Formats: sequence, C-alpha cells, structure tokens
Amino acid sequence: MNRRKALQILGLGSGVVAVVGATGLTWRAVDGGVFSTGTGSAYDAWDRAAPGGRPLNLVDAAILASNAHNTQPWLFTVSDDRIELFADMSRTTGALDPLLREMQISLGCALENLALAAPPNGMAANVSFLPDPSDTTHIATVSLTPATASGSPLFDAIVVRHTNRGAYSTSRAVTDRQLDTLSALADVPGTRLVWFTTDAQKKAFGDLTVRATRAIIADPRQAADDYRWYRSDGHDIQRHKDGITIDSAGKSALVRTLSKLLTTTHKQYNDGWLSGTRDTQLPTASAFGALVVQDPHDPLQRLRAGRIWQRVHLTATTHGLGMQPLCQIPERVDRETSAGLSPEITDAIAAMLPAGSHAVMTFRIGHPTATAQPSPRRPAADVVRA
Ligand SMILES: Cc1cc2nc3c(=O)[nH]c(=O)nc-3n(C[C@H](O)[C@H](O)[C@H](O)COP(=O)(O)O)c2cc1C
Repeated sequence: MNRRKALQILGLGSGVVAVVGATGLTWRAVDGGVFSTGTGSAYDAWDRAAPGGRPLNLVDAAILASNAHNTQPWLFTVSDDRIELFADMSRTTGALDPLLREMQISLGCALENLALAAPPNGMAANVSFLPDPSDTTHIATVSLTPATASGSPLFDAIVVRHTNRGAYSTSRAVTDRQLDTLSALADVPGTRLVWFTTDAQKKAFGDLTVRATRAIIADPRQAADDYRWYRSDGHDIQRHKDGITIDSAGKSALVRTLSKLLTTTHKQYNDGWLSGTRDTQLPTASAFGALVVQDPHDPLQRLRAGRIWQRVHLTATTHGLGMQPLCQIPERVDRETSAGLSPEITDAIAAMLPAGSHAVMTFRIGHPTATAQPSPRRPAADVVRA
C-alpha cells in the first residue's frame, strides 16, 4: 500500500477498521496515541518544571535537557544542600556511541539545565565535575546555597526547547549576528563553534553527513543500536518514556498519524532517516555548525561541551530559531576509531575544521516552518535514587 492509498483510507475515518482486515497490514491500535501528540504521562514532565524552591525542582529542569537518542542517561541523588549526578551505564547507545562521547555531552546538557534552574528556585549552584577519580560514572557534585530568587530567559526556554527536525525556511537566513551571539556562548578555552555558512561549505557538510548516514545504515551493529531507541508504539512510549518517536521527527500531522498506524520495519526506518536527512533537513538548513574541542576523548571537555550545547540551543530558542543536532559524522568518527576501520569520515571532517580541533557535535540551524513537538521524559521521581 502506498501513502496515497493510506491517505484515502484515513479520509474514510471509521472505515479504517474495515480496511485493516481487508489489507492484512499490521495496524496500530487506535488507543496507542495514534491520533494525539504529546499527551499522556510520558509528557507530564514538561508541565512540572515550575520553580518550587526545592532541590528536586532543579532535577525537574535537568531531565528536560537535550540528550542523545533521548536515552536520558542520568541518575541523581538529592539532599538539601547538594545534588550528585551519575551516568546510568544501562542507557548507552552501543556501537553508535562506543566512546561514550554522546552520553557525556548529554550529561553536560542536564547539568546546564540544573544550574540554570538554581536561581529561579532561590539557590546558587556550584558545579564540581568528576569529583571521584575512582568512579567515572560520578559526573558532578552540585553544591547548593540559598540565594535571592531570580528568573532568566534561558530558564524560561527550558520547557519550550525541542529538537526541530522539520524543514527550515529557505527564504529567511539566520543572521551573522545571531551566529556570533551563539558563538560567544562557548566560554571554555579550546572549545568553540565553527559555522558552515557558504554554499560550498554547506554542500561539503551535507555531502559528508549523507555519507556518514549511509555508512551507519550499512553497519549492522550501528544500525541496530540506532533502531533500538526508536519507539513506534504509543504504549511503549508511555511505558518507557524515552527514545525517538515519530511525533518528534518533524513530519506533518497527517504523516505522523499514518506512520503510527502502519508498522515501520527497520528498513523503512533507515530509508526514512536517509531521505529525511538528505531531502529535507540538509537542503533547508540556513547554516550548519560544529562544536569543537581540543581533545574529543576527554570527559571533562565533553561535559563542558554539553553545557555549552544546551545553552546554545536554549538561546537559539529565545531567538525563535530551530536547531537539530545532526551527529552522524562524529558517530561515524567514533565508530571508525573504536572498531579500527579506515578513517574515511574522520579524515574528511578533519579537513573541514581548523587544525587541532575536533567536532564533538555537529548540527543545523534555521527558521522553523513548523513547531517542534516534545519528546517523552521519565519524571524526576524515576531518576532520583535514594
Ligand atoms: C550528543 C547528542 C547527539 C544528538 N544527535 C542527534 C542526531 O544525530 N540527530 C537528531 O535528530 N537529534 C540528535 N540529538 C537530539 C536528541 O535526539 C534529542 O535531544 C532527544 O531526542 C530529546 O529531544 P528534545 O531535544 O526535543 O528534548 C542529539 C542530542 C545530543 C545531546
């Protein structure tokens, strides 16, 4: 059955059930969130981030951070004057992140939200990274002291920031001034944003991203570890409250509904990923960027890069801009390194960056043409341990 036929079926409304039996296709249960977006307990966390003056309110904000494949690889312990952040090593993305770069960046993103939430909750937060050399999963200690409560635009943006995977406007460019504002947020020596803005630079970045996407799809282990975090069933989404969903894929409401009705095979998922990247996300970007560091294997540089990425995305949100990490290139670089493969993507991206700098994140930016949808979240209660 093609999309057009499926559209006709949708137009029939209650006829759907009759056609299900007639076609023999596997259809989604209609009570599995097919006809709704961003509802149910999997999305409640987005409504719970209002300041309440308690340390737990900082965790409410932390869990809304950007994070790779929506794995939410964090655990917290909370007391009156401190919060400890740990990596949850059961929530990795395997061969897609073999060196744990994305996991550590994700934890840095959560730390940034946590720190931004301190002043509105009447606290000052002091972050110490990697406080226990004998425990690499102990990511940070955040000491809390009382302070006068004050809000901020970045704190307000936490609940409206979403990864926007849809088409961006091709008639409205992000200005150099806006890019400079974002660049200024990289406040750690050796860490900075590199922009690809000319047609030639954008083509080179786009071509390499397509190459990296194809390489991931052709690599059975990487492809399987990517697909493992795709949640297509509404019941699974409500139960797990994590992963990548069709609702956050940047498709129209109609395509989202159709995709939820029809079972997606791994091949269809891969084809959709490649075509969405090649035909929508890359050609409509106003610019691409790379967050670069001096040592991409240093956990501290990754954690700090994560804090910067979160601040960049929140700031872009306050400017009405859409952003999407497009990390196929660094994912392939790490795979080439860890599996001892020929360094094809590694050498190609190195040639596009200043000498001595390494991309730990790559992304696109532009003016959105549609509102991005929220992704599911496990609530703070599920990620705070005693
Ligand atoms: C390190 C890192 C890598 C990511 N890579 C990608 C990517 O390659 N493609 C993509 O669409 N989103 C990527 N994301 C975005 C996450 O998938 C997204 O943050 C997560 O699903 C939660 O959704 P939200 O940002 O809308 O809250 C990445 C995020 C992080 C922190």
